[in-house]
This record gives sequence, structure tokens and C-alpha cells, in this order.
Amino acid sequence: MTHVTRLFINATQVVTCAGPARGRRGVEQADAAVRDGVGVAVGADGRVVSVAPDGDLRAAHPGAELIDCAGGVLTPGFVDSHTHAIFGRARYEEQELRAAGVGYLEIARRGGGIHSSVRDLRTRSADDLVALARARLRRIAAHGTTTLEVKSGYGLSLESELTTLRVIRRLAADAPMRLVPTFLGAHEVPLEYREAPRDREEYIALVTGEMIPAVAAEGLARFCDVFCEPGVYTVSETRRILLAARAAGLALKLHADELENGAAAELAAELGATSADHLAAISEAGVAALAKAGTVATLLPGTMLFLGRPKQAPARALVAAGVPVALASDFNPGTSPTVNFPLVLTLGVSQLRLSVGEAFVAATVNGAAALGLAAEVGQLAPGFQADLALFDVRDHREIPYWYGDNRCLRTWLGGRPAHLG
Ligand code: NIG
Ligand code: FE
Repeated sequence: MTHVTRLFINATQVVTCAGPARGRRGVEQADAAVRDGVGVAVGADGRVVSVAPDGDLRAAHPGAELIDCAGGVLTPGFVDSHTHAIFGRARYEEQELRAAGVGYLEIARRGGGIHSSVRDLRTRSADDLVALARARLRRIAAHGTTTLEVKSGYGLSLESELTTLRVIRRLAADAPMRLVPTFLGAHEVPLEYREAPRDREEYIALVTGEMIPAVAAEGLARFCDVFCEPGVYTVSETRRILLAARAAGLALKLHADELENGAAAELAAELGATSADHLAAISEAGVAALAKAGTVATLLPGTMLFLGRPKQAPARALVAAGVPVALASDFNPGTSPTVNFPLVLTLGVSQLRLSVGEAFVAATVNGAAALGLAAEVGQLAPGFQADLALFDVRDHREIPYWYGDNRCLRTWLGGRPAHLG
């Protein structure tokens, strides 16, 4: 048996999320397997060895280092499976435009939105992008996240997309969380491909013919994502891009049915995508298709809140249909500039009407499933990575309750301190 090196003791509750190592669906999603009076034993390999009463652990492993949880609540670190964390400047000017009635896609049509982040990112050095992102990752870690998906998508040229993904690789070497890179070269059609002699076809050819092969050859991404939305990429363009990505060995994600329904969820199901994300405008047929395919629905309630849009994804219908539901932050400069994952849990309960148990499973096990990591992270159970977050509360239901507050004290990655408070 693995040698136990650390014992996490004196927690009032441990949210284990223990259970099958796959996306949880239907009634399974409600069971976060919360236990009182237990501790967590971690092995020299950084994995959980056992979860048992503190006294039993101390008797069985007398030489282990003791980590005192001081009566707080221990959870698996959050698995945030959807972010756009590599960008330059903030886009605070757009919030007032939206408040004055200018819509998200209208801002993009005027050359703002994603285009404004693209113009800005292309002027920056890799070192600058690393420094900006490193500071953001520290803030994200301080709120309890231990696995973070990060997309490219503000470069939109071969060179700047590769630079972005190389920045993610550099950050991964010493980040306070595990990073999972996603290539999102089809985040928008860049402005220079909208006027003759160039056209959008030429950009799609660049994505499929040059960017995807280069990303795959350098091993720079695990996933390929496309913003499939009326006015951005059509279903048939998205299909072509994702088929090229799949052939190059990348797993698939889609920004699907975010603002208007375009049957993008059905496409995610057809292609066997790992996740379909956003879904505020998904149809009943889309819900049924995701359920049949086993695709994870990644919901981003902070985005709809920040955009001031009244309509959230139909989380209850998705759970009822047997679709595993994940929650993510969508951290990005345009539609969701929040580093606060506990706030996303709050919105999961108040806006999506998930139970607290469903929200915790969505933030851990199902987030891991959305990244193909359900056998590695997201649970405090034997064999899983000892990625933990400690909160200064006495009951796990307080974590979404104190909304906007950050009760996270510390995080650990593979049993080692990641964020120290
Ligand atoms: O997930 N919807 C597309 N992409 C991002 C927003 C990107 C931006 O506005 O910069 C999203 O909401
Ligand atoms: Fe997004």
C-alpha cells in the first residue's frame, strides 16, 4: 500500500463527491457524499489513500504530517472546465454600452467584443501575457479552483494562437492549479477575413489546414472548441472545423446555443463532443440529443448574469433528461470577468435551481468529466489526486450561501500546498 505522508484532520465536514468516475446524471448528481467527522489520508504519490474517522487515520499512520483543518469544510478543489484566461486589457467599457441597450453581438459588429481583445493581444509579448495570466491564476486559486481549462481564441492568426497556447504551457509549469489547454481558433472570424480579397472560407481553411495541424504537432491542446452561434460560426462550418480537429487527435467542445438557438447542441451530440457549453438557448431536441450522446452540459450562469440577460440554461430539464451538468466560470474579459468559483456555485443554485449537492457535483466530478479527467480529479476518494480546498465555514451549504464572499482559506494540489491563504 502507498505510504501515507499527510493527514487532513479536524474538518467539520468533508464533501467527498465519492462515487463512479464518470459524469453523474439524473438523481446521481444530487449526491455530493458529504461526511462528518472524517479526515483524508494522502500518499507519497499525492493521491488520496483513504477517507475515514480522524482517530482511525491517526492510529493507522502515526508518522504522517498532520494538517489541521480547524473545524472548516474540506472539498475537492473546483474543476473549472471553461475559461478564456489569456487576454490583455479588461473590457469594462462594454458593460455601460450593454446597460444602454447595445447587445453583445452588436458590440462585436461594431468591432468591439472579441475583436477588441484580439487587437490588443496581438500587440503583446508572450512574457507580458504570462505575467498578466499568472496574477489571474493566483486569484482563481485563492477561490478554491485546482483544475482550470484555458482556451486560446484572442489571437486568431496562426502565430498569435500558437503564442497563446505556448503561454498556457509555460504557465502550467508552475501554476497553482492543473491547466488543461483548449484551442479556440474559431472564436470569431477575424476582421481581416471579412473584406475582399479575403473571406471567411479562407480563415476556416487556415484553422483546419494550418492551425489545427500545428497545434496537434506541438501537443499544445487537448481540446478544440468552436463558437457555434448564429452570426459567428454556422453549424456546417463548425462541423468541418471539429472533424478536422478530431482527425488530428483533439477532443471536442462547443460554445453551443449560447444566445440564440442554432441546433449546436445537436451537433455536439452528433460529433460525440466531450462537452457542450452555455446552452441558454438549447431546444428540447438538443436536450434529448445530449442525453443520448452522454455529452456533458457545461453551464455558465455568471455569463448570463453579467450580460444582463434574463434567460439561463434549462438546468432542471437537463438533469431530468439524464444529461450530466457541469458548472464553470467562463472567466473572460467580455462576458464573465469573475475569478470567484464559489459565486458560480451560488448562481447554480439561485439561477439554475440546482440543489447544493447538484451544484457541488457539477463543480467537481462533472467538471472533471467535461475535461476527460473523471478518473483523476473531482473526488476525495482512494486513487484520486489529493486536490483539496479548505473553507472557513461549518457547513458546506454556507459556501454558496455567503454569495460574493470568499471563504476559501487554502488549496492543495496532489496533497501539496498550492494556495496558502
Ligand atoms: O464564452 N461566447 C464566446 N466567447 C466568450 C466571450 C468572449 C468575449 O466576449 O471576449 C464566452 O462568453
Ligand atoms: Fe466561453
